Amino acid sequence: METLKIDIKNAISFLKQNDFDQYKELTKNADLALKNKTGKGNDFLGWYDLPERISKTELDEINSVASDLRLKSDVIVVVGIGGSYLGAKAVIEALSGQFDNLKNKKGNPLILFAGQNLSEDYMFELMEFLKDRVFSLIIISKSGTTTEPAVAFRILKKELETRVGKKEASERIIAITDASKGALRSMANQEGYKSFIIDDVIGGRYSVLTPVGLLPIACAGFNIGKIVTGAKDFLKISNSDDFSKNQVYTYAAIRHALYSQNKTTEILANFDPRLNFVAEWWKQLYGESEGKENKGIFPASVSFTTDLHSMGQYIQEGLRNIFETVISIEKPKHKLTVPSDSDNFDKLNFLAGKHLDFINKMAEQGTMIAHIDGGVPNIKITLPEINEYYIGQLIYFFEKACAISGYLLRINPFDQPGVEEYKRNMFALLDKPGFEEETKKIKERLK
Ligand code: PA5
Repeated sequence: METLKIDIKNAISFLKQNDFDQYKELTKNADLALKNKTGKGNDFLGWYDLPERISKTELDEINSVASDLRLKSDVIVVVGIGGSYLGAKAVIEALSGQFDNLKNKKGNPLILFAGQNLSEDYMFELMEFLKDRVFSLIIISKSGTTTEPAVAFRILKKELETRVGKKEASERIIAITDASKGALRSMANQEGYKSFIIDDVIGGRYSVLTPVGLLPIACAGFNIGKIVTGAKDFLKISNSDDFSKNQVYTYAAIRHALYSQNKTTEILANFDPRLNFVAEWWKQLYGESEGKENKGIFPASVSFTTDLHSMGQYIQEGLRNIFETVISIEKPKHKLTVPSDSDNFDKLNFLAGKHLDFINKMAEQGTMIAHIDGGVPNIKITLPEINEYYIGQLIYFFEKACAISGYLLRINPFDQPGVEEYKRNMFALLDKPGFEEETKKIKERLK
């Protein structure tokens, strides 16, 4: 089986040899700290060997619940936010056909998401859409208390219970949450929902290979066994002590070598819109893991060639604090060529007979050279194709590199203390009981 490849020659060329070499030993040591559980946040390392620990029984159980939900639903609404949302959304978007959601194939329910925003219009329109459709719910919250999914779930649960009665609703709701803590656990136990546990030792943004990601992905009809195999195979590769053969070490080290030269923003670029949500997942993984103690590489993303007509100008000539990481896909799923045209009004006959993917690849190479010439270091990650197996590899690649990167920055990559700030203010402004002092202060500030 082929593997994900990484090419850093067009990033190294921006550095002095020692700028990169100094990170080799540090990177290996950071991985040792992960392996030996001696680094910061070492009570959140359950993801590290997870692909090897997932049993066939666990996968069978997830698949069986997914089959049941698929059979009885036109729509499955997955309710969650952050790490309880982005992994599933990313994988489903990457593996789905662009217009699959419009096809409405029998036995293939539509997977929709809720609880990842507080927009009244989003929720209203979702409820309108569900009106004449049979739906089920997957509610995902590790803490079981996050406001956005809790509010959305309250609305959806009420609608479901009104429509089909409490008993049937309880058979159409699956909860994924902590084993014993949180409001969602209590509710699931009391209402008799089928539930899956989010392991205590796995943080939200590292949870895509747990039921958090795997159940929605299985509900969408994809082979979760192959995703796990991809991750497992990559776990083995990423244990190689030989730096030149370890893509994870290479990525972590080159990012930090660039960061040390004031390249403080990393732009993840793709040339296939199916990967747009992989970029959203990646942004959360890296942003929430690294952005601490006034440090961290800012993760941004673009989808080319679309964004060459919006962000291309900035990347080419704006502030030179950026580097680009391009995810390149070797082989498209389908084949389509440009037709010949006898009138040739558009003067495009020079492209006749050429595959769109060939044209896309030339755009990719042309863009890379232009951006390098413009002073933007380039890291290239290549996947043979987009399928379950390679997505599994990509997930594990990014997860492990992220944890190592966090250690290179000397921060804890597994917590997110800063996320609490907005919540405190929001609760104070909403007059939540227990926040009276904060309410007084914040209302004063807003006067
Ligand atoms: O990565 C994280 O831990 C966070 O992004 C959480 O996933 C997110 O805040 C949602 O939390 P919960 O699953 O507790 O509702």
